[in-house]
Amino acid sequence: MTARVACIGTGFMAGKHLAALASFDDVDVVAVADPVVDRARAVADDLGARAYEDGLELLATEELDAVWMCVPPFAHGALERAAIARDLPFFVEKPLAHDLETATTIAEELSDRGLLAAVGYHWRYLDVVERVAEHCRELPPHLVTGYWLDSTPPVAWWSQRSSSGGQVIEQTTHLFDLARLLVGEVERVWADELVVAGTDPGPDAPVPLVATAQLRFRSGCLGAVSSARTLPARHRVGLHLVGDGYAVELAESAIVDHELRITDGSGTTVERSDQDPVAAEDRAFLDAVLGRGDDVRAPYAEAIRSHALAWAADVSAREGRPVDVTPVGVHA
Ligand SMILES: NC(=O)c1ccc[n+]([C@@H]2O[C@H](COP(=O)([O-])OP(=O)(O)OC[C@H]3O[C@@H](n4cnc5c(N)ncnc54)[C@H](O)[C@@H]3O)[C@@H](O)[C@H]2O)c1
Repeated sequence: MTARVACIGTGFMAGKHLAALASFDDVDVVAVADPVVDRARAVADDLGARAYEDGLELLATEELDAVWMCVPPFAHGALERAAIARDLPFFVEKPLAHDLETATTIAEELSDRGLLAAVGYHWRYLDVVERVAEHCRELPPHLVTGYWLDSTPPVAWWSQRSSSGGQVIEQTTHLFDLARLLVGEVERVWADELVVAGTDPGPDAPVPLVATAQLRFRSGCLGAVSSARTLPARHRVGLHLVGDGYAVELAESAIVDHELRITDGSGTTVERSDQDPVAAEDRAFLDAVLGRGDDVRAPYAEAIRSHALAWAADVSAREGRPVDVTPVGVHA
């Protein structure tokens, strides 16, 4: 069977997914949508697909087996609800939304409907992440330190907190997701942030320059995850995990794709991944849609917990108070 799919949003990340989809021989991308019509048309022409200005019109018109949603954080809500109303499985890029409420409502509607939705926490598909997960199961970490040290992305929607959610929600969410995967649930977050001098924390506030969050995991492990957007280019993104007799570093930088370093009493081993985790997550989602597989590693119900943790860190930083994370992942 060939799956008929569409992609809503035709920017940077859509390009990655569409390239992966083009490499599969059991997919036909029949339509794309983007309010920037020229971009939608150019992408559609390349693929031999139909172009729409409005994703909702695409969903109302096309007969599909699945849809990819690669839109900015502020654009979530109506698209997912339209897909759910049609029982159409969807793949959605992280973050789930610029806020928590939109994503929580969608998670509830998906659960009521029993519909498949996968989320783009692509690190979960890396072989080096599987190796670290195995290591952490055998020797649980006592300390996690994470760092997302980067430039400010040039897209217009990114720099305003009200449209992107901010760096913690939009980027560092990958690290909160990894920390949950490797260490387990977090029970308490205490965060702080440095805002742009002279700006008020209103809806039009720019994204803070840096932020840092302390975490206490239910296992007793402690964590600290920091974000910075002030560099000229991506500097380093990753996690250090420290346990009895070992340190593990899982990281990427501008010059090295995902690298794993394990240091213990016998020295340091280094492993690099040459996988394409975006293609891997797309393949896993498609296989699930086609009834050929069951390896969606970040279903919406799982991803909402990572989103809720990032949100708790953001609330804590904005409000200057510790925030408890409830068992379902929604902050108190
Ligand atoms: N998994 C990753 O590592 C990763 C990397 C980069 C971006 N992302 C995520 O992918 C999403 C998109 O980011 P991007 O870098 O592609 O941004 P982008 O700005 O390059 O592309 C977004 C596109 O969506 C379009 N758009 C806006 N509102 C829309 C709507 N209502 N309907 C349809 N299209 C709409 C924009 O016109 C734009 O073309 C974001 O959530 C971002 O966080 C994930």
